[in-house]
Amino acid sequence: MTVLALETSCDETAIAILRGRELLASEVASQVAEHKKYGGVVPEVASRNHLVHAPRLLERATRDAKIDIASVDAFAATSGPGLASSLMIGASIAKGLAIGFGKPYLAINHLEGHLLSPFFLSEKSPHPNLLPGGEKRPPLPQGEGVSVRPNLSLIVSGGHTMTVLVRALGDYQIIGRTVDDAAGEAFDKVAKMLGLGYPGGPEIEKHARGGDPKRFDLPRSMLDSGNFSFSGLKTAVRYLLPKIGVIPNPATRDEGSRNRSADYLGPERDQKPSGRSFAPAQDDSAIRDDTVVADLCASFQQAIVDVLVRKTIAAAQKQDVDLVTVSGGVSCNQELRRQLSEACKREGLKFESAEPSLCTDNAAMIAFAAMLKLENGFASKVTEEIDPNLVLR
Ligand code: KG4
Ligand code: ZN
Repeated sequence: MTVLALETSCDETAIAILRGRELLASEVASQVAEHKKYGGVVPEVASRNHLVHAPRLLERATRDAKIDIASVDAFAATSGPGLASSLMIGASIAKGLAIGFGKPYLAINHLEGHLLSPFFLSEKSPHPNLLPGGEKRPPLPQGEGVSVRPNLSLIVSGGHTMTVLVRALGDYQIIGRTVDDAAGEAFDKVAKMLGLGYPGGPEIEKHARGGDPKRFDLPRSMLDSGNFSFSGLKTAVRYLLPKIGVIPNPATRDEGSRNRSADYLGPERDQKPSGRSFAPAQDDSAIRDDTVVADLCASFQQAIVDVLVRKTIAAAQKQDVDLVTVSGGVSCNQELRRQLSEACKREGLKFESAEPSLCTDNAAMIAFAAMLKLENGFASKVTEEIDPNLVLR
């Protein structure tokens, strides 16, 4: 069975083709450059760019996969959560293809794509069979290598931070979520304050290498709750900067507590997602002392990792599962992966994470979720609407 999936929930246009468990193609076009001059994602610019990128990626994906699009058995797209005008593009293309070729359509929840990604080939191989550089691993026979085992899933990205009890495919219960910023958003905002580039997570991780994670005492919020909060940590960094001789990037001064987390439960929750917030990397005059910046990045990263690890382990123990999984862009972070894996080992829990290329937004995870659903007899109606606030259940 072959599935073609599109992911256009925010500012990445992505298309993947999956045959059984073999990833034939996975294309991602980032729009960071297009949005940079606006200091954040502009929804209309994002949707116009999806329209430009998608046909090109579609052609490239079918060429790489060496398949005729008429041989695809089902078409899938992310139907939410995300930016309405972006979601519409991917969903409309997938629906059009499904109708045109008389094949099923599958509407996939972006969060379900993330939380299933650690199971992508995990039983047979720790890696998907498309390696960086395009080299392929031998394909697995269809249907082998995957069963979604009960687990406590940590989804940690730029728009979401949540723990989810996964009982089975399609049976999910949210245990905790952020009440303000998502963890990735905190990484991005602190990187911006420091004048580092976007996305901020990889920049902070890079600068944290060799830094002292104990040098600055930064807050770990809401430790007694299952929910998360990262806004106080971001503010603590902001107030610390002048005291340690680092001049904050002027582009961040008026940002206040504006947040973009889709999990946010406060009064702004019903407003349209504000999209990614980022600034062009500032010149390095914003940064005075490399050691101070390294120590600050390491201390900040450790504060986030501490909270994520502690709450995830506590939730797994409370829900009585023996497996912890992690997914989403922030799970590319090596310190998070290492410390969460070690904590699981200490507590007698198994641990699975997705291949880094499946952690940041991509269409392979959407194709994989769609494949599992298809194999379980599930398909969506082509009349199914996109939902910018789609919840996981
Ligand atoms: O999953 P993703 O691509 O998009 C959303 O659904 O939001 O996640 C993007 C987020 C960004 O905030 C980025 O800074 C963060 O993931 N990220 C990282 C790392 N790589 C990406 N955060 C920390 N460490 C990393 N290595
Ligand atoms: Zn995502």
